Amino acid sequence: MNAPWTVNGERLWEALMAMAQIGATPRGGVCRLALTDADREARDLFVRWAREAGCRVEVDQMGNLFARRPGKEDHLPPVLTGSHLDSQPTGGKFDGAYGVLAALEVVRTLNDLRCETRRPIEVVVWTNEEGSRFAPAMIASGVFAGEFSLDYGLSRCDRDGVSIGQELDRIGYAGPRPCGGQPVHAYFEAHIEQGPILEAEGKTIGVVLGIQGIRWVDCTLEGTAAHAGTTPLPARRDALLGAARVIQAASEVAAAHAPEARTTVGELRVHPNSRNVIPGRVDFTLDLRHPHAETLQAMSEALRAAFDRVCAEQRLAGQWQEIWYAPPTAFDPDCIAAVRRAAERLGLPHRDIISGAGHDAKYLAQVCPTAMIFIPCRDGLSHNEAEAISPADAAAGASVLLHAVLEKAQE
Ligand code: GLV
Ligand code: MN
Ligand code: MN
Repeated sequence: MNAPWTVNGERLWEALMAMAQIGATPRGGVCRLALTDADREARDLFVRWAREAGCRVEVDQMGNLFARRPGKEDHLPPVLTGSHLDSQPTGGKFDGAYGVLAALEVVRTLNDLRCETRRPIEVVVWTNEEGSRFAPAMIASGVFAGEFSLDYGLSRCDRDGVSIGQELDRIGYAGPRPCGGQPVHAYFEAHIEQGPILEAEGKTIGVVLGIQGIRWVDCTLEGTAAHAGTTPLPARRDALLGAARVIQAASEVAAAHAPEARTTVGELRVHPNSRNVIPGRVDFTLDLRHPHAETLQAMSEALRAAFDRVCAEQRLAGQWQEIWYAPPTAFDPDCIAAVRRAAERLGLPHRDIISGAGHDAKYLAQVCPTAMIFIPCRDGLSHNEAEAISPADAAAGASVLLHAVLEKAQE
């Protein structure tokens, strides 16, 4: 029997390292916030590589990029595969970029093999997956899937009041292709696990069954900004003290729903942020996650009750605004099976896994059969400049992607 096809691991690694230079940080990570100049540079490089691989590149109204390798029956709905090129402020080299460049490597490998597929294959780069600069996350795949309107997507603003639409215009990636509405035969996304399970169990491939639910809340606590030295204890209305109590409550809510629950306060803005002024206002974010919708709802309600209690006890005015709910998502059994078959054909140790992180695959799953492929990352560390993977695992995951995409592209 012939050995199963594999991708060119060296070429994939070179592409990953070249992409990681765009927005590179002194500590070995990447800062490539959505729609910044660094994001534009990364897009330009991707477009050049995709064209060199013979693809036609289209840009849609949300700035999503589609690099198309034609099929023998080119009118058929394509197999879509990709991820994102934006990063966290102190992100790593692989979150997102791995899925984009693994998909490009699939196209390059098919070219080397002179393999024609029945259906076209499109490598996609989704705009603003991270949600770090513009909330919510996965906004552009959400518009593609019809979860959000185009107006909603384009009008999301960063902290300085600059919108996605303005930034797409500025960097030259506001495209003409309608965002969404195109039939897709299947979607596959390769990604680093971003957690510790595969590494701990010595598995090379995670066969991803679905994604846990996420709720994002914007909170504000308002007290009275006043003199640090003169304001007597009973008169103080300290918004930061209130926020600290809510943060403590968030960690207790996670503990009450252990081991799967996660709660995080990742952003805190203190006003006026001066050493000798009692904080008069604090804006902060909540990120709540759980694989089960009912538990996630219960967590949110428990934390809301704690928030209201803190407001009453500390005499603070509170605003609680849930800005995003992404329910738990189950992927398509047939696409999942294609990933598992690919891992088995390649002789790679694998296990089923649920994604703790959000991915564009969440929204794609609402419009087409979808699955994901995970590879291990060192110490399970991600959203960190030290994020690391091995070249061998990178190649293995891309070879699994090759076989899964091929199976669907020949249907
Ligand atoms: C995406 O990076 C997430 O927050 O899961
Ligand atoms: Mn990602
Ligand atoms: Mn991420």
